[in-house]
Amino acid sequence: MAGHVCPPFIGYLLLSPFRKLLENPRKILGPFIQTGMTVLEPGPAMGFFTLPLARMVGPQGKVVAVEVQQKMLDVLGKRSRKAGLDDRIDPRLIKNGGMGLSDLEGKIDFAAALHMVHEVSDPAAFFKDVFSALKPGGRLLIVEPKGHVTKAAFEKTQDAAKTAGFTPAEPPAKIRGRCALLSKPD
Ligand SMILES: C[S@@+](CC[C@H](N)C(=O)[O-])C[C@H]1O[C@@H](n2cnc3c(N)ncnc32)[C@H](O)[C@@H]1O
Repeated sequence: MAGHVCPPFIGYLLLSPFRKLLENPRKILGPFIQTGMTVLEPGPAMGFFTLPLARMVGPQGKVVAVEVQQKMLDVLGKRSRKAGLDDRIDPRLIKNGGMGLSDLEGKIDFAAALHMVHEVSDPAAFFKDVFSALKPGGRLLIVEPKGHVTKAAFEKTQDAAKTAGFTPAEPPAKIRGRCALLSKPD
């Protein structure tokens, strides 16, 4: 299903301010976020969604940003320090398989996997880790680009999430691309 990860030069392109015209982080994520939440963002790259998320969760909240590429985290770190948001962002590099979230088991309020699941090499393990990290009742939003991800591939992704224990929640409105909102049962 995957294997290729987006190279750092694409990471820079993903930060383009014009992207906000098509994908506004506040409009997409605002309906799911409350101040004080702990949010998991796997595959943040250089933080197009991470910084707005950090602003939305406020000083009492946290965004756990889990990446497989150190370069992405380096740039994310610079950007979050410049914005004065680094104390709300917990950047983590995945090293030897697994997401390294055992300390957060059952502590995540909301997870946002944005344009990244198609790059995940082991979706079954990925969804299992996200499921464990979420609180009961916690939700996972998946958004995938239609250009890279066929309808059939997206159905497979959702099946992998369901196998991990997720159940479909109401579909989110007005999000471009292929999207699904799933929840961890109470
Ligand atoms: C296409 S980029 C999208 C970045 C960001 N979510 C956005 O929409 O701007 C996908 C990112 O996911 C990361 N990635 C790929 N597989 C991953 C995995 N298993 N866990 C965490 N991050 C992963 C890649 O390194 C890359 O930075």
